[in-house]
Amino acid sequence: MNFSIYEQSQKNEIIALYLATFSASESKQEGEQVARLVTDFLAEPFPSTDLYVFVATDEQRIVGAIVLSRLLFAHAKEVFLLSPVAVATDWQGQGIGQKLIQFGCDKLAEQNVSLVMTYGDINFYGKVGFSVVSEEIIQAPHNLSYPKGWLTKPVLDDEILPITGKPSCLKPLDNPTLW
Ligand SMILES: CC(C)(COP(=O)(O)OP(=O)(O)OC[C@H]1O[C@@H](n2cnc3c(N)ncnc32)[C@H](O)[C@@H]1OP(=O)(O)O)[C@@H](O)C(=O)NCCC(=O)NCCS
Repeated sequence: MNFSIYEQSQKNEIIALYLATFSASESKQEGEQVARLVTDFLAEPFPSTDLYVFVATDEQRIVGAIVLSRLLFAHAKEVFLLSPVAVATDWQGQGIGQKLIQFGCDKLAEQNVSLVMTYGDINFYGKVGFSVVSEEIIQAPHNLSYPKGWLTKPVLDDEILPITGKPSCLKPLDNPTLW
């Protein structure tokens, strides 16, 4: 398995991966919504210091992908949001998701990113060092329909310090219905 930053020639394959994976795990509608989100991300300027996409490939086939996009706080160190994450259905349960997330977080730490946030299931993300965080400590860009899914992982140092104010997110995620 190879882990790397994505290449623009892989755009369509990445979108197809999200569509197939979320259609299978959730619903066709959810698959289409996530695929639209990823399409919007991949239409953002590239390369960018606000957006990173990493892929896991096996013999040229993309079997996993993660998107990390900047959350911009007025007075905070560098913070990124991990979302969405997909591992192809026939490759799940083999540690690829965890390794890919760790790979992405390590790459961001090299860029001096201090915290990675995500919004999902602690049963999975807890395995790669995320913990639930209150919005009193770190706010999300929009109201959260599931506050227990607001998770953080320090990637530079061990501390989780409170951050003042609400962050802004990149345009593809700037939609209250996604939160
Ligand atoms: C969630 C996902 C990214 C995990 O990737 P993966 O490569 O299958 O995961 P790994 O093999 O690294 O880790 C597997 C572990 O995570 C757990 N896990 C996997 N998916 C999970 C989920 N959706 N919820 C809770 N736990 C999950 C497994 O139970 C397993 O635990 P174990 O090792 O104790 O048995 C992948 O299953 C996927 O793409 N699912 C569909 C899309 C999705 O739900 N994305 C995440 C959105 S928050």
